[in-house]
Amino acid sequence: MTIAVCPGSFDPVTLGHLDVIRKASAIFDEVIAVVVHNPDKAPFFTLAQRMQLLEASVSESGIDGVSVDSLESGLLADYCNARGAGAIVKGVRSNMDIGYELPMAYVNENLSGIQTVFMLPRPEYGHVSSSLVRQVAELGGDPSAYVPRAVLQMLPNRAQ
Ligand code: PNS
Repeated sequence: MTIAVCPGSFDPVTLGHLDVIRKASAIFDEVIAVVVHNPDKAPFFTLAQRMQLLEASVSESGIDGVSVDSLESGLLADYCNARGAGAIVKGVRSNMDIGYELPMAYVNENLSGIQTVFMLPRPEYGHVSSSLVRQVAELGGDPSAYVPRAVLQMLPNRAQ
């Protein structure tokens, strides 16, 4: 049985993230989607909020075999070992994502031997990012094509 961990800041979870989680769940026996504290980013939503939104979004999307967890501190590689995970799954949309993800994948492999599997989101989500979603919402635009319903309700300036 192979467990995969899908880690990320999920600030907030987007339909692109959910698409990758769905694809991972079709390949791996069990998927743990983990909201991770990234010390390089100042979060918009708290860790607890991000986890709650991820839980609600996974639940409303009806994806089977996925649990949600959080990692507030420590190495992702250690978390994966502790959970018996055999792979990390990350979504990549572009060369820029590859450039960002490769060093992390190498470091995680060096730390614990764990492999990172890269998956493509569907093309319609190839430009969707949490930061763009936040910006569109904050400036009064409609981000509903990019986020699950649970997230839409929590974003600033949402339509009434
Ligand atoms: O969604 P993000 O912010 O691009 O996800 C990056 C994240 C949080 C998965 C990455 O920063 C991470 O794994 N942080 C945990 C600390 C760690 O293990 N660092 C060393 C290997 S990258």
